[in-house]
Amino acid sequence: MKSPGPRNRPVRSFVRREGRITEAQKRALEELLPRYGVTPAEAPLDFIALFGRDAPVHLEIGFGNGEALATMAAAHPQNNYLGIEVHRPGVGMLLRRLEAEGLANVRIACSDARELLEQRIPEGSLSGVYVFFPDPWHKKRHHKRRLVQAAFVALLARKLNPGGLLHLATDWEDYARQMLTVLSAAEGFDNTAGQNQFAPRPEARPHTRFERRGQRLGHGVWDLIFRRGTHS
Ligand SMILES: C[S@@+](CC[C@H](N)C(=O)[O-])C[C@H]1O[C@@H](n2cnc3c(N)ncnc32)[C@H](O)[C@@H]1O
Repeated sequence: MKSPGPRNRPVRSFVRREGRITEAQKRALEELLPRYGVTPAEAPLDFIALFGRDAPVHLEIGFGNGEALATMAAAHPQNNYLGIEVHRPGVGMLLRRLEAEGLANVRIACSDARELLEQRIPEGSLSGVYVFFPDPWHKKRHHKRRLVQAAFVALLARKLNPGGLLHLATDWEDYARQMLTVLSAAEGFDNTAGQNQFAPRPEARPHTRFERRGQRLGHGVWDLIFRRGTHS
């Protein structure tokens, strides 16, 4: 059978680049990922088995080096946190922090968020979804790679439970406007800031590497917080 050509390949929101990985990060991936990681499998995730308890599950997509995820998990020990990231050095960094800080309420999937959501996250199972500073793919011909698009938002709407929050932040103004347009048009979401408004930056949102980078470059920051309606 012929393998799918480039035309049939799905458009991805990331490029898999290993970049620099330290020995300590490599060791963390080998030794700690079996403890904190989601095993690759076809089956839907059983969150009670995965976390060893029944608690609200919050998901961060593209956590980078995991600063926000670890900070949120430490601040809210009553919640479970699942992080998805394809960049292995970042996963290694977060694993080291989880172990150093003894954070027991975090699990990690080192895979494509879109695939994991489609194949393994049960419908209506998430209390919160966070996408902080997703790759902006700022060239027009790359806009199709942006994560926040109508189909992806519809997928998130199915996975959030009624009342669950979707929190996005970006330092790219045209992507922020695209996010606002897509979310305002999406079924099942209410804008917590009011129609067509960005949300004020919540003080509790942890600063991340990419937010700091944007600030150094003089970029603004836009937050969007939408609630999954209880009516649809
Ligand atoms: C610009 S970085 C932001 C990282 C972090 N949230 C921050 O604010 O510092 C975007 C991250 O999203 C990850 N990413 C992009 N698409 C993804 C996908 N489909 N599944 C999982 N991770 C993804 C990339 O690997 C990258 O680390």
